[in-house]
Amino acid sequence: MDQDSNPQDSADLQSLMQAEQAKYSQVRERKPLYGFGKRQVQWLSARDNNFTRSFFDALRSADIMTALDVGCGGGTVMDLVKDHVQVQGVDIYPDAPNQRPDLRIHHMNAASLEFDDDSFDIVYHLDGMEHIPAELERCVLREEFRVARRLVFHEIALVLAAGDRALLAEGKPPLHTNLKPPDEWRRVIDPIAEKAGFSLKLTYLEAMPVLGEGLRSTLGNIVRRLRGGRIGRLCLVYERAPTRQP
Ligand SMILES: C[S@@+](CC[C@H](N)C(=O)[O-])C[C@H]1O[C@@H](n2cnc3c(N)ncnc32)[C@H](O)[C@@H]1O
Repeated sequence: MDQDSNPQDSADLQSLMQAEQAKYSQVRERKPLYGFGKRQVQWLSARDNNFTRSFFDALRSADIMTALDVGCGGGTVMDLVKDHVQVQGVDIYPDAPNQRPDLRIHHMNAASLEFDDDSFDIVYHLDGMEHIPAELERCVLREEFRVARRLVFHEIALVLAAGDRALLAEGKPPLHTNLKPPDEWRRVIDPIAEKAGFSLKLTYLEAMPVLGEGLRSTLGNIVRRLRGGRIGRLCLVYERAPTRQP
């Protein structure tokens, strides 16, 4: 598929997205991963002292009224912002809206967002781009910068998820299907942001937390840390240049 093709017109994109949807539905049936279970809550609590948590705290004092949560899962991050921002979420998992009827969650592909241009003050996509197949990454990014008015925030995992090892052992593709080093992500995202009138405002590389899910994972993380640590997530905040604001 041509990387610059229009998502709405592409049959290739449709079939890729159907495959993605089937993948996430299957995984959720096996385990309550990715936003609908205990693991997700543990993972979010590991954010207590991190950049993402501080960023959302800082947003409270900024003049941000509307937000879109891309790949919102079970809405755990929407819960963090919903008291001070009107937030909507989208997720490819068909049952996502039913899981949290109290939140405005839509079943929608990130590669084809059904919102007008400049609809949200901030678009955020957390632990997200590593789940988007490389063929679709530019479609997703263009859509995000199209519907964002002021800020786009990505938090991107740079390593395999714990559950991915089990999938790989079964010969299945990992959920973290699109792993790249930080500079490669910048090479993909920066030009799309720039074309939409945004530039990079903040960047942050976050190490994986030492505490994992269970003793084995925690010990593994301690050993990795002793060997020099490992980088877990890349955070990127893009802001629309003031001269380009409507
Ligand atoms: C690791 S979870 C992150 C959940 C949430 N953003 C958070 O940080 O708590 C990734 C989510 O992206 C969703 N997802 C994957 N591909 C997607 C796509 N193309 N469009 C929308 N959502 C997608 C998955 O269903 C899953 O809920």
